Amino acid sequence: MIFGTLIAMSWFVLCSLWRMAAITIGIPLTFLLFVSRTFRSSFFSWFFVYIIGPIFQPRTIPPRRKVFQILKDCVADHDKNVPLEVLEIGVGEGPNLQFYPENCNLTVLDKNRFFESY
Ligand SMILES: C[S@@+](CC[C@H](N)C(=O)[O-])C[C@H]1O[C@@H](n2cnc3c(N)ncnc32)[C@H](O)[C@@H]1O
Repeated sequence: MIFGTLIAMSWFVLCSLWRMAAITIGIPLTFLLFVSRTFRSSFFSWFFVYIIGPIFQPRTIPPRRKVFQILKDCVADHDKNVPLEVLEIGVGEGPNLQFYPENCNLTVLDKNRFFESY
């Protein structure tokens, strides 16, 4: 009986917290994401860098290494004194930057200007 009451009370508290979070954070956040492109871009870059990045970026390192090894093999004959011209479209916060070969003339583009600070 006491155990059942405790479970019911815990469930009630959890549901109340969830409802409060939805009202104070969830709904305003969803509204802002929906109406403001600037907020959406800023939130996306923040979310990508601080939430998605730490979870998924470590897993992307081996395939990135592999891909950049292919690039290095492809340009192996390239004159080392002449900079390699590279254009990366959609650079994000720049997780590829560490993998480019030395002496690259790198141009990066991203449609989301909020990534620049990262
Ligand atoms: C999933 S992120 C990838 C970031 C990084 N290149 C990587 O390998 O992790 C995709 C990026 O491409 C950018 N992007 C998407 N469409 C684009 C476009 N048409 N022109 C330039 N950048 C674009 C997004 O803003 C985002 O930063």
